Amino acid sequence: MEKREQLYAGKAKSVFATDDPKRVVMVYRNDTSAFDGKKLAQLDRKGMVNNKFNAFVMQKLQAAGIPTHFEQLLNDTESLVKKLDMVPLECVVRNYSAGSICRRYGLEEGLAVNPPTFELFLKSDKLGDPMVNESHALAFGWATQAQLDEMKALTYRVNDVLKKLFDDAGMMLVDYKLEFGTFEGELLLGDEFSPDGCRIWDKATRKKMDKDRFRQDLGDVIETYEEVGRRLGIRFD
Ligand code: TMP
Ligand code: ASP
Repeated sequence: MEKREQLYAGKAKSVFATDDPKRVVMVYRNDTSAFDGKKLAQLDRKGMVNNKFNAFVMQKLQAAGIPTHFEQLLNDTESLVKKLDMVPLECVVRNYSAGSICRRYGLEEGLAVNPPTFELFLKSDKLGDPMVNESHALAFGWATQAQLDEMKALTYRVNDVLKKLFDDAGMMLVDYKLEFGTFEGELLLGDEFSPDGCRIWDKATRKKMDKDRFRQDLGDVIETYEEVGRRLGIRFD
């Protein structure tokens, strides 16, 4: 496999073509952003940590029968994935209240959300990723009904797998965001799963172990991501 020209650069990852038109290389950079790109920093080791974290989680999900774009880790900061046609929506499941749901509904942080909610956001930094519903997605052509049904079902299946994975390692999966795309007509989980796109708290102390450490200037951002990974059994070296 030969890496070729850059196709796209996001806020934290870049995507490169390969000699196979159906596969791309995802490069995890140290760039870190929050609040739709309004807060930016370079965090040492982040690209490597998130690349290896994502590879571990995607493999666990695949083993549980959830179809993903992930193919293989290429090196510290690069992974080979299937090239997806992305659905421009973010799927968020919440097991505990935190972040925007607290602001939106005046909730205190840390309440159990039962049953866990499923929310859709339009992927648009310019608009601040507004929350949307299924009728918006259908009316404006962001997804079909079949895709919406499948994204919801898969996002909840991910919850069953990952809630247990984190719980067994002494952590709470508070919430997370997933993105999907199509490959040869099939809907696959894409993008990444790392502490950048979810909230994870220590079960005993409720210490924040995710990107809220960066958003809220709590310090030790990447050291804490590595601790989450180590507790799951990931080796960063
Ligand atoms: P929120 O509380 O800001 O709505 O975010 C819910 C979860 O989804 C949280 O773990 C962060 C993640 N998320 C992203 O990673 N990127 C996004 O653009 C959005 C809207 C949420
Ligand atoms: N991922 C989004 C951004 O980088 C939102 C966030 O994490 O706060 O701006």
